[in-house]
Amino acid sequence: MEGQETKKRMLSGIQPSGDLHLGNYLGAIKNWADRAEDYECYYFMADMHTITVRQEPADLRKRSLNQLAQYIACGLDPEKNVLFLQSHVPAHAQLSWVLNCYTMFGELSRMTQFKDKSSKHKDNINAGLFTYPVLMAADILLYQPDYVPVGEDQKQHVEITRDIAQRFNSIYGDVFKIPEPFIAKTGARIYGLTTPGDKMSKSIPEGCVFLMDKPEDIARKFKRAITDSDSEHCVYFDREKKPGVANLMNIYSTITGKTYEEIEKEFDGKGYGVFKPAVGEVVIEQLRPIREEAERLIKDKAYLNDVYLQGAERAAYIANKTLRKVYKKIGFYQI
Ligand code: TYM
Repeated sequence: MEGQETKKRMLSGIQPSGDLHLGNYLGAIKNWADRAEDYECYYFMADMHTITVRQEPADLRKRSLNQLAQYIACGLDPEKNVLFLQSHVPAHAQLSWVLNCYTMFGELSRMTQFKDKSSKHKDNINAGLFTYPVLMAADILLYQPDYVPVGEDQKQHVEITRDIAQRFNSIYGDVFKIPEPFIAKTGARIYGLTTPGDKMSKSIPEGCVFLMDKPEDIARKFKRAITDSDSEHCVYFDREKKPGVANLMNIYSTITGKTYEEIEKEFDGKGYGVFKPAVGEVVIEQLRPIREEAERLIKDKAYLNDVYLQGAERAAYIANKTLRKVYKKIGFYQI
């Protein structure tokens, strides 16, 4: 990472709470890959965030390694990007406690993800679910990044991070860099194929395309994608009237780079029977090399462990610098 002092920094993370899906890929990872030449990049697996919802320990362990293989397969070269597991860098938990004391109950109560998750997991509305954005703020602020590339659903969490950082800085001086969310123009919100009103998520697997899905499964999911009752089966972009078609067009456009006008022209008069499998096909071809490479990497546990060890070391170096500064500012006695 020569010359990295002059590069702007990027940081982001994904929870290993399920298999990575097309929403994670188009909304986040695709925007991370290929940035390593221009930015100094830190990407991690947010395993500490996953336990706000009960996890099967063996599955979490397995997914934490599989997710690393998938990050690399998506083009995140560990030589050029710092890839690590959140729980391997204790500074995340340490800064999170400090920031808890600079975050207001009221602002956490307004977080839509908290409202959402607490209504879905009524039997387990734990304090971690509530303070989740504080841990996320710690994840970000430790690394002093310029940009945080995320999908639209995480924008609110980056905004509260900025608020917390500004509050802290206003008391102690310029300790934290104020990060900007970095949200792609297309792909930032991918909806479920069977629920075009809700974001694609692993909780509705039949409408969710996973990076490791076999081509025949992807094809089937796209054939069954919900469109609308327009008898003409006309492919045009209208988010309000045709959310299912708009979602498929967004996916197609994000992968091929074609504009909506070009897509409308391409499928003019062809109907959904041609359009839906065509979207499936570009997704299959985009994901095929990723799946094959991830399957190869996952067999090499020693290599993945090594990436994690080196990643944690490089991440901790930066994170601990910020933590020491924070401890000093707030008055923790240091020897
Ligand atoms: P998570 O794990 O839910 O999602 C990871 C990334 O994928 C994006 N994403 C989507 N984008 C478009 N369409 C979708 N349907 C879709 N679903 C998910 C998310 O916006 C996100 O960018 N709290 C975070 C993880 C996190 C984090 C951080 C992120 C923890 N600490 C620090 C950035 C910086 C989360 O739960 O994302």
